[in-house]
Amino acid sequence: MVLLDQTRLPSEEVELVCTDAPALVEAIRSLAVRGAPLLGIAGAYGVALAAARGFDVVEAARALEGARPTAVNLAVGVRRAESAYRAELAGTGEPTAAAVAALAAARALHQEDAEASTRMAAHGVALLDELLPGGGHRILTHCNSGSLVSGGEGTAFAVALAAHRAGRLRRLWVDETRPLLQGARLTAYEAARTGMAYTLLTDNAAGSLFASGDVDAVLIGADRIAADGSVANKVGSYPLAVLARYHHVPFIVVAPVTTVDPETPDGASIEVEQRPGFEVTEILAPQVPVTGAGGGIPVAPLGTQAYNPAFDVTPPELVTAIVTEEGAVSPVTAEALAELCARSRRA
Ligand code: MRU
Repeated sequence: MVLLDQTRLPSEEVELVCTDAPALVEAIRSLAVRGAPLLGIAGAYGVALAAARGFDVVEAARALEGARPTAVNLAVGVRRAESAYRAELAGTGEPTAAAVAALAAARALHQEDAEASTRMAAHGVALLDELLPGGGHRILTHCNSGSLVSGGEGTAFAVALAAHRAGRLRRLWVDETRPLLQGARLTAYEAARTGMAYTLLTDNAAGSLFASGDVDAVLIGADRIAADGSVANKVGSYPLAVLARYHHVPFIVVAPVTTVDPETPDGASIEVEQRPGFEVTEILAPQVPVTGAGGGIPVAPLGTQAYNPAFDVTPPELVTAIVTEEGAVSPVTAEALAELCARSRRA
């Protein structure tokens, strides 16, 4: 299985080859492959890889789905390929046919994600036009939610890109997204390739940008949306939602229906991944010389403890709308989300 190693971007475009599930688990943990929809796709292909190579598929599936806890898409993707494998094995007793079935399930998920991305972009642009009829949108985004994390053009970034193509994006404000700089390294990389007008800012500059009236809407992705509409996304999303509410700016979440998890009742039930402290106490940019314990340049005294949650949770009352491939939900309520999921199951 060949992946683009996202830890090396934007300096280098390097392929990472995973020949078994443990290698893929490591790629997921190190964020070489990351972002909710892509984690689902990678997890499904990982099950197919284990099946094709004759490894223990159940063991591989459990290791893959446990590699990161917050993005529900990972478990959804893994289980889809595993179910296809098990069903075929139960029917034919043929491991080779079961491996082919797992691969077909992974390919189907990949294709569906690409299609969902196109539909989310269309619904998102329509919503922006409704909320901001004048055009010339100045959109703030956080983390990375473009084609690097998707079978298609992504989630929140795909909406900004569609607005750009329609001539309605004035500027994309890109939060650098400390500590691992997914905004600076990855979103700026993607934005530069599209030719859209974009500006990078430190996360803590967002407040003054709102205060000066330069943000028309916030667009972010999601790693898990609880049944009540609470949204887990990259740490730093919740403060943006608070800022957006104070400044009367729409805060819009864009995610495929697979990110909505009916099994997770509310925000407090979402497991937030805690990551190693060295990601905060060291700068881990790929081009810097390696010196610290985590492989980066120390920026804090040796032995400093760090608080490093990978995600935070935004309550539904701060979310203006959730845009999915099935349409937008606004206001965000448990009932509206449940109906959306039911519609998606019927489709
Ligand atoms: O830790 P990461 O880089 O995997 O976090 C990714 C995010 O938080 C994204 O915003 C989220 O997965 C949505 S991507 C469409």
